Amino acid sequence: MSNRMWGGRFSSGPDAVMEEINASIGFDQRLYRQDIAGSIAHATMLAEAGILTHEDRDAIVTGLNAVLAEIESQKFNFSRALEDIHMNVESRLREMIGDAAGRLHTARSRNDQVATDFRLYVRDAIDTLLAQVKVLQLALVERADAEAETIMPGFTHLQSAQPVTFGHHLLAYVEMLGRDHGRLTDARRRLNESPLGSAALAGTPYPIDRDMTAKALGFDRPTANSLDAVSDRDFIIETLSAGAIMAMHLSRFAEELVIWSTGQFNFVRLSDKFSTGSSIMPQKRNPDAAELVRAKVGRVLGALTSLIVVMKGLPLAYSKDMQEDKEVAFDALDALSLSLAAMTGMVGDLQVNRERMREAASMGFSTATDVADWLVRQANIPFRDAHEITGHIVKLAEEKGIALDGLTIEDFKLIDHRIDSRIHKVLSVEASVRARRSYGGTAPENVLAQAARWKSLLTGTTVEARKPVVKLGGHGHGDGGVE
Ligand code: ARG
Repeated sequence: MSNRMWGGRFSSGPDAVMEEINASIGFDQRLYRQDIAGSIAHATMLAEAGILTHEDRDAIVTGLNAVLAEIESQKFNFSRALEDIHMNVESRLREMIGDAAGRLHTARSRNDQVATDFRLYVRDAIDTLLAQVKVLQLALVERADAEAETIMPGFTHLQSAQPVTFGHHLLAYVEMLGRDHGRLTDARRRLNESPLGSAALAGTPYPIDRDMTAKALGFDRPTANSLDAVSDRDFIIETLSAGAIMAMHLSRFAEELVIWSTGQFNFVRLSDKFSTGSSIMPQKRNPDAAELVRAKVGRVLGALTSLIVVMKGLPLAYSKDMQEDKEVAFDALDALSLSLAAMTGMVGDLQVNRERMREAASMGFSTATDVADWLVRQANIPFRDAHEITGHIVKLAEEKGIALDGLTIEDFKLIDHRIDSRIHKVLSVEASVRARRSYGGTAPENVLAQAARWKSLLTGTTVEARKPVVKLGGHGHGDGGVE
């Protein structure tokens, strides 16, 4: 039997392989809500424009709502012979209301229908992601505020570089996520035009009102070119591109959680809820959730690459190639949402080992830069020379097997007579972070101010910065430290 939706000129039905390769119902059934909303908007507009009688419109709208209820209660029988969600819904509508269902497809095509449905779906997915990003940001900001005075080693090349505050480190991810939020918001804004009414590719001779359907579906306006509208998939490509960048950010944080939770680092402990055991090594706590977030970027980037390759070189307008847009996109959008949820969960009940972080921060002569800065500021030595002198100081401490603050004033004077006892004020990790008050720097008071700024932004209320609880190191000004 030939297909009853388009089989008029066909005398035989499709080969089994043809049916298999052609059908998208296995994955595009997720578009049912968007498809039905689009059809209701279309039927309503057709009646308003005098193209459909009010009786037919009422039958169609009631019928579509009944189809929706059937799908939502899992009573709907999806048929592969009917290819996709659009024809499954329409065919069921015909079974329910009879011939009036055949008038729904007036002045539209599956080409503008699928473009509309998919835009609506991606728009909803973006909205979910945007909300999730904010939840994760807020969780990070809360932790940053609590850890504004927690000192950890800051790394470059994964080598201990200079002490930083843990709060500052966490806020780095809040900034990244803020840009991710911005990119997704931009993508949503460009996406939000309605293709409905572009019909197959050339528009339609019926006196339709595209502004009306655009408005009903929450679009800002109808698309301006019918050829572009049915063949554009920029909206999902752009969303995945923003998503890939976000997934990359999440993978960096996930990797840090993996490193920090090792016995060797022992900076943090992931809760039992986000760890797994080993079936053979009883001592193990594996950070599986973090590892999986680290890996998910592969899917998202894979989907992005896949869609750019699918679209590359496609002549205008619609080609069936474009049906390949959905599976990978759904998978990637799911992965992004799950990654954000997992990260939020992990951040929420992360245990921070402050003592261990502090201890690690003071290893590796991490305040050597502060010594060099002191030489510049207090002894008026050019930075390059100060760097050299500090190198000798570090070498001496290394030979003695002690930290920089273990060196005596005699030790320092041996290397350079211009050094005096005030140098001791800058040797501690506390003094080091406290001094870094330049805008964007790691000092606790900066972290508290930034945490308050983000809290205000994220909650839409004015949040005052918390005052530092512990005074880090000696007193602030005029003590010979590098302030
Ligand atoms: N299932 C199709 C897709 O996802 C719907 C559009 C089909 N249009 C067509 N002319 N065959 O792309």
